[in-house]
Amino acid sequence: MAIKAVRGVRDILPVETGRWQRVEAAGRATFEAYGYREIRLPLFERTELFARGIGDETDIVKKEMYTFEDRGGDSLTLRPEATAGLVRAYIEHGFQVEPKPVRLYTIGPMFRYERPQAGRYRQFHQANVEALGEPSPAVDAEVVCMLMDFFRALGLEDRLALHVNSIGDAGDRAAYVARLVEYLAPHASSLCGECQARLGRNPLRVLDCKVPECQPVIEKAPSILDSLSAASAQHFDHVRGYLDAMGQAYTVTPRLVRGLDYYVRTTFEVKTTQLGAQDAVAGGGRYDGLIERLGGPADPGIGFAIGLEREAALQRLMPVARAARRAGVITELGYGARKLPRELERANKLGVAYAVIAGDNELAAGEAVLREMKTGEQRRVPFARLADELQALRSQEVSA
Ligand code: HAM
Repeated sequence: MAIKAVRGVRDILPVETGRWQRVEAAGRATFEAYGYREIRLPLFERTELFARGIGDETDIVKKEMYTFEDRGGDSLTLRPEATAGLVRAYIEHGFQVEPKPVRLYTIGPMFRYERPQAGRYRQFHQANVEALGEPSPAVDAEVVCMLMDFFRALGLEDRLALHVNSIGDAGDRAAYVARLVEYLAPHASSLCGECQARLGRNPLRVLDCKVPECQPVIEKAPSILDSLSAASAQHFDHVRGYLDAMGQAYTVTPRLVRGLDYYVRTTFEVKTTQLGAQDAVAGGGRYDGLIERLGGPADPGIGFAIGLEREAALQRLMPVARAARRAGVITELGYGARKLPRELERANKLGVAYAVIAGDNELAAGEAVLREMKTGEQRRVPFARLADELQALRSQEVSA
């Protein structure tokens, strides 16, 4: 029997590489225009780097790392993200003597043992950007605006929303966590099993639980913004002031706490409603204290990572839908939020004549499945011909 690729890991085939090159080139051009330089980092590091850097209690470190012992008996881990490794390199090569901020970016694969689904893989790719050594809130705004410039360069910014928040310093957060636990404890029985466990281990994580039964409780939770110290609150005010001055629109989302423990003060995420549950296309924040915790100087830092798979999927489907609409075909995108049978059920209810189905395999092959809803008949059509094909079917229908 032929051996297949590992679950959650996929080949990027020649039909797709052009799109990947365009996305990467847009990243490089945008980051370099702001003075960021490329650094290339190893794909594996000592396990301890991630445990100490990302946090022992995070989902990433607890359940998602590819950890192995090498032949010399060292515990090594395939990098689940780039920030810890980049900070390790910053310290190891004495970057702290360079003029601040030290601006660096890196692009490449990351590895997390997550349940694979649309937009979520076990090997995925990030463009990762970090500004190290500068405490000013102006850098926070620079980094966020650069991220949005990247999406603008790809023509995607209209479909994306920027969410910003401040989670304060360690002291602010401890005070907030105490308030949060006090609020959540009496509601524990209304929370999902996972959140009940989080309540003891890492209560902040309850705030970004996606399970519907938890939402009514989460919605009424106290806001972290009310627990900020004067210094953190002022920092956040300044970040917002700079974003306003640059004309960058954003939403303040107090529940945005992120999944890695190194963040302090500013956190942010870029989301789309168009990829189903995996709606974050980029995320980041400030991590003052991390460099010191990993054995370096007390230099602050801030950065973000863009999930490149999620860029690529959006880029493939949206132009097809647009071309079909321009050709006069009424087209609605499902965006993969539901499983296929549910999506088809919904299409039936809407009275749709034809459904276009494109999962990871179809995207990789450059073809979509075209299904006639009435008969259930299906055939494969290359993406390039899809809009024309739909238009032809429509005129047949009209003339029939
Ligand atoms: P993160 O939020 O864990 O942050 O990941 C950033 C982005 O990577 C996500 O928004 C998503 O687009 C993408 N991503 C994450 N996991 C997967 C997956 N399994 N499959 C596909 N895409 C995925 C970080 O990694 C931080 N290191 C970002 C950062 C840099 N903060 C400061 N500097």
